[in-house]
Amino acid sequence: MSEAKKRAAEKALDYVEDGMIVGVGTGSTVAYFIDALAAWKDRIAGAVSSSEQSTARLLSHGIEVLDLNNAGRLSLYVDGADEVDPRKCLIKGGGAALTREKVIAEASERFVCIIDPSKRVDVLGKFPLPIEVVPMARSLVAREILRLTGGQPVWRDGVVTDNGNVILDLHNLRITEPLVLERELNQVPGVVSVGLFARRPADIVIIGGEPLLVL
Ligand code: A5P
Repeated sequence: MSEAKKRAAEKALDYVEDGMIVGVGTGSTVAYFIDALAAWKDRIAGAVSSSEQSTARLLSHGIEVLDLNNAGRLSLYVDGADEVDPRKCLIKGGGAALTREKVIAEASERFVCIIDPSKRVDVLGKFPLPIEVVPMARSLVAREILRLTGGQPVWRDGVVTDNGNVILDLHNLRITEPLVLERELNQVPGVVSVGLFARRPADIVIIGGEPLLVL
């Protein structure tokens, strides 16, 4: 799959333009994108990063990392996903970076999602849905999301997000109405963000298989 991820990542360079501040996601597919973006480092104005992990990789290539508060609205956000449905709604957060990813996606005009073919699904939910939660609310949120969805929440023990929070992975879902579920879960006190990207889906999905597809 790594060849497919690399192909998708390199294709995303087609959307990078001179002078841009590029929003950069997190994960193994994005790592290929960052490596490819290094060739553009003197042509772009910098990057806004969604994680400490991506920041380190960007800086290692000499790409300037900017604060979103100073960058304003971004033209382009490039990120991977754990699942993508036919409406370009996504599950994200396998790498625990969902909150900053969601913020940057919201701040961006165009969200280009780069995946290998295994991430394409008809219905979201086989991949456990990551939910970032304030630590003291972990048990409360687990009980409440079990009651609301019937899904099985599992604490990602040992993982602390870049924001100092914890992750619950919600198993056994079949998400036929992603927007409704995203809204519902966002209402639960203690939830910081939900790894469902339905309110702000991807605009373009690049699938780096053979043949390479741009949807
Ligand atoms: C990070 O929190 C995630 O949202 C990633 O975008 C997602 O897990 C995809 O990761 P890979 O590119 O490593 O498959």
